[in-house]
Formats: sequence, structure tokens, C-alpha cells
Amino acid sequence: MGKAKIFATKPLFPSVCRMLEEHVDAEYWSEPERIPRGELLHHVARKDGLMCLPTDKIDAELLEAGRELRIVATVSVGYDHVDVEACTKRGVVVTNTPGVLTDTTADLAWGLLMAIARRIVEGDAWTRSGTWNGLAFDTFLGADVWGKTLGIIGFGRIGREMARRALGFKMRVIYTSQNRAPEAVEKELRAEFASFDTVLREADFVSLHVPLLPATRHLISAEGLAKMKPTAYLINTTRGPVVDEAALVHALETARIAGAALDVYEQEPKVHPGLVARKDVVLAPHIGSATIETRTKMAQVAADNIVAFFSGRTPPNSLNVPAA
Ligand code: DGY
Repeated sequence: MGKAKIFATKPLFPSVCRMLEEHVDAEYWSEPERIPRGELLHHVARKDGLMCLPTDKIDAELLEAGRELRIVATVSVGYDHVDVEACTKRGVVVTNTPGVLTDTTADLAWGLLMAIARRIVEGDAWTRSGTWNGLAFDTFLGADVWGKTLGIIGFGRIGREMARRALGFKMRVIYTSQNRAPEAVEKELRAEFASFDTVLREADFVSLHVPLLPATRHLISAEGLAKMKPTAYLINTTRGPVVDEAALVHALETARIAGAALDVYEQEPKVHPGLVARKDVVLAPHIGSATIETRTKMAQVAADNIVAFFSGRTPPNSLNVPAA
């Protein structure tokens, strides 16, 4: 029997490609722009496996085009772009890349928090503009981060690392999540469990760390934003649709909250024009896990899942078959 044939929607680092090619026949989409849908549907035909990115929608149509697919390995922790149920029905294993991007994503969330509170991006633009005429006592006044209350919504791996970083800033940390963390974790991170409403009402910074699920779509709505302090900031590094973007723009326009720092958007790569226009918003281009080290690890983990599967082992990060 020949090697399994896989298609990857991007060639992900030479070292990972080399490792993959020792085990499977790999074909890649090598164009600089993202693979168009039609090309993706064309390339998955007669493939046994697919390595994809969050920008590739894996749905019933794709599974029909790639009827021979047996594994879909997404190079991401989030898998809201994959219809896992449809994959399961067709016996297609789905894997993701948890764990390796936890700290990197928490770092970015923290960076965004600092950037919005201390007006770093706004200040950068002004410094470059040539209009800066020296230190002034009363310009670019931001908000202190240290000693404030950090509210974390979703207390999984990344939410917890966000809390750990707050320890160094002498902050009070309150969190809400479906399941309360073990007492030892709360103690170690000095984090208090609170209701969703309490987090919104009491936090100076609200940072979102829930996955995108039907139940978390527009979790932060006009109603939620209205509960936040007018001096509070919203940080989103999870998935755009967790926030009702139109409601966020309205909350900013009416000074319901002080600002927002976002890495993700409702309709990427489109960004709501009401956000683009504002100075009290920091916008990053979905770079939560974008470091050389972490993206290399993510590609490696996805490749390991594929290799494990075609070697007859249960892939370590399977989302729809029990781990071995
Ligand atoms: C993820 O892993 O889900 C990120 O959003 C993409 O790198």
C-alpha cells in the first residue's frame, strides 16, 4: 500500500514539511494568498488527510468534495471553523493544537491590555507624526494597570495564564467560567470565582477567553457592555463573534466603556469601520499565537497528529475519538 495522500492549505515550515513527507505524500497550497474555496474543494478530492487553518471552512460540502478524507488536522486550538459533527458522521477524525499556544496568546492579550490602557499605539502614531513637541505633563494620560481588577471570562488554559500575569501587576483577579477551577488553582493564581455579571460590573479590564460556541456567540452584547464600568476596557483575543461588534462600537461612541483592544473580529478580515475610526481602540490582525516558536510548534503538533493517525495510532489531540 502506498503512502497516504494529504493536502495542506499552507506549507508550514521546512522542518515540519520534511518530517511530514517521511510518512505521507504531502501536497501544499504554496501561493501567498489564502486558498480560494474552489481550489480547496478541488484539492481535497482523492486525499486521505487535510491539514488546514482557521480560515478554511470544513463543512459538509468540503467533506463531500473530499470523500476519501479520514483526518482533518487544524493548525489552531480553535475549531469553530470545523463542523466536527459532520466529520464524526463521516468517520473523519478531527484534531487541533491545544497547549502549545497558551502562554503566547496570554502574552498578546496582556500586550493589548497594556497598549490600550497606556495609549501606546496612539502615542506611537503621534511620535512618528512629527507633531510631538516634547514631554507634556497632561497629554497621553492613560489608566493604571497595576492594582486594578482584571476580570477573566473563560478560565481555561489561556484565561489562567492571563491571571498568572496579573500577579506581577498586583491586581485583583476575578473570573467566571462554566466550571469553577479547583481550589488549589484559585489559590495559586489568587483568582476569585464570580458570576458573569459581577465580572462585568467590577472589572477594570475584561479579558475574553471562551471558545466560540453557539452559547458564546455575542456573549458580550449591548446588555453586557452596559454593565461594565465607564472606565473599563474590553480585551478580546479569542474569536470575534463572541462580541457583538456593532454593540461594541455603540458602547464606545456613547462612552459606555473606556476602550477596547482586539485581535479578532466578527467577519475577518473585515473590521467594523466604527472600530477603525476610533482612537480608544487597539486593533491587531489575529496574531495571538503568532511567534516563530509557537507557530512552529503548532505546525509540528498538527503534523504529529497526521503521522500518528496514518501510523495506526490515536492522534494525541483528537476531538472526536477518545485519546489512546
Ligand atoms: C487558534 O489557534 O485558534 C488561533 O486563533 C489561530 O492561530
